[in-house]
Amino acid sequence: MKKIGLFYGTYTGTTGNVAKRIAKALGEEHVDLHNINTDGELMKDYDVLIIGTSTWSVGELQEDWNNFMPKLEGMNFEGKTVALFGTGDQVAYPDTFLDGMGMLYETFQFRGAKFVGFWPTKGYDFTSPLPILDHDHFVGLAIDEDNQSDLTDERIKAWCEQIRPYCGIDD
Ligand SMILES: Cc1cc2nc3c(=O)[nH]c(=O)nc-3n(C[C@H](O)[C@H](O)[C@H](O)COP(=O)(O)O)c2cc1C
Repeated sequence: MKKIGLFYGTYTGTTGNVAKRIAKALGEEHVDLHNINTDGELMKDYDVLIIGTSTWSVGELQEDWNNFMPKLEGMNFEGKTVALFGTGDQVAYPDTFLDGMGMLYETFQFRGAKFVGFWPTKGYDFTSPLPILDHDHFVGLAIDEDNQSDLTDERIKAWCEQIRPYCGIDD
């Protein structure tokens, strides 16, 4: 059984709420939930990391992730599996939609992480290049609670089914 840690950064609580829903979809008993604000150093203890952030101030990483960045840059994620998710607002901030998730992708990638959970861009309307893996995939799950909250449950469900085989839950 792999150890799964979900680490999120949240300002108004939206990403924290999505984090709980992801943990529930995977089975709460399998996933340890951590706020990056207090628990970031614990990332080293997990085999599988589910990493979530919002984007603020037009294209900025959520504040707690930003504060943790110097420590993150000193960490090594070789051998770890990482699945990213981001929350944002594609209507008000189409040019910087989910930039925070894109920034975390670059940071974890540079430090050896292996990624799972790429997500189709179909059904979203935005121009930001940063959270994009290739022309039709995000680097992780894209959630827009501001404009598409009615789609969040089905997106979480499908994404959790997609990453579940990499989490070792059914081994
Ligand atoms: C002032 C402000 C700036 C924002 N900037 C962005 C942005 O650049 N890109 C984006 O995708 N969302 C942006 N958002 C939307 C938030 O990221 C979104 O509401 C998110 O779900 C908040 O999650 P949190 O409460 O977990 O921090 C912004 C929202 C506000 C109020």
